[in-house]
Amino acid sequence: MVTTAELAATVMARADRLGSISEDAGRLVRRPLTGPARDAEDLVASWLTEAGATVTRDAVGNVFGRLENAGDGGPALVIGSHVDTVRDAGRYDGPLGVLLGIAAMAYLAAREDEGDPGLPFALEVVAFAGEEGVRFAAPFLGSRFATGTLPDGWLARADDEGITLAGAICDAGGNPDAPPRARYRGADVVAYIEPHIEQGPILDLAGEALGVVEAIVGQERLRLAFTGQANHAGTTPMPARRDALAGAADAILVAERVARDVPGLVATVGEIAVAPGAANVIPGAATITMDIRHADDSVRVSAVGSILEAARQAAASRDLDLVVTPEMEVAATPCHGAVTAAIQAAARRTGMGPLRVMTSGAGHDAMVMSSVAPIGMLFVRSPGGISHHPSESALGGDVLAALRVLIATVDEVATKVRAGSFLARSEVVA
Ligand code: GLV
Ligand code: MN
Ligand code: MN
Repeated sequence: MVTTAELAATVMARADRLGSISEDAGRLVRRPLTGPARDAEDLVASWLTEAGATVTRDAVGNVFGRLENAGDGGPALVIGSHVDTVRDAGRYDGPLGVLLGIAAMAYLAAREDEGDPGLPFALEVVAFAGEEGVRFAAPFLGSRFATGTLPDGWLARADDEGITLAGAICDAGGNPDAPPRARYRGADVVAYIEPHIEQGPILDLAGEALGVVEAIVGQERLRLAFTGQANHAGTTPMPARRDALAGAADAILVAERVARDVPGLVATVGEIAVAPGAANVIPGAATITMDIRHADDSVRVSAVGSILEAARQAAASRDLDLVVTPEMEVAATPCHGAVTAAIQAAARRTGMGPLRVMTSGAGHDAMVMSSVAPIGMLFVRSPGGISHHPSESALGGDVLAALRVLIATVDEVATKVRAGSFLARSEVVA
């Protein structure tokens, strides 16, 4: 029978393979509903088939692999993450969770072939599309689609080239007007487990391989469009200017100041667009994004209020128009105690635990899946704490430990489900 060590080595090799599939030569970027996304999904589908799963796909590019076991068409334990990336990404944010899920599935399927009684539920591995929100400003696209929670109006969101989400779905052969029944509804999922690299420095600094997540911070993304007057850079005196970029710069520094003053708050301006964009023209328009996060939603909401109030004052003092467009908001999400307990029990059983209990500062599809299932997350050390960057990495030994804990977690949940003590259905989804 295949060993966990062999499977973990395969995870590392497959992460490299996926990392070579990109829209751009020389940097990794894989946005949803693009040719390279499709190529990556094809590979994932082939690996799922090899692991023994029945594979289905949907209109946005989600890939689902199901191993029926004794599930008999009933609820599944779902393991997953995403396979899209940010621009100039690393190889592990997203793919690591999917690949660990496939490896766990391959192990459990092989064990059953050897005569093990098997799991009392179906096992699914999902590779979600479009978690990062880089295209269409629509984060968690795949998990929202799969849970039937795509907000109204998102199909009309356009990418940089003006292609709408609906148009991209059509181009990929899907029908945006007839979305299928949501794959995941409350009764369909025993639990959702997302293994993920930590994407921060805490485990690395502590010299620990794995952690368990107790909550994921809430976040919102906004677009601030400042409009002033483009004019000649040489002839327009400073007091007569309506410089949109200077107003945007005020707002960027306000966001940084507020975030520095509020413990635990993070605020980031990651995109800026200036028009007309010439060295000798005062900017007439400037648009920035803001990404603001905190573990306590009320703290975040109040901080966003302060930032926007100061941005409006800055715009007014420069005689600029300011239009604020909220693009996304997701509440802080606790992981479910029953899933976290299963991960901790599994870690103890495999000699890894108890694991450090952590808060995730990054968003994850688990936040969306929490609307239909109890969720849990297993973090794997990020060497150097680097993520959303090509030097993001993962250690083979940590990946092996994560695989063993993941398999043992599935077994923990199975034991509890068999005993009728995992969760009453009424506790699963509100
Ligand atoms: C996803 O990686 C996010 O937290 O932005
Ligand atoms: Mn990410
Ligand atoms: Mn991710």
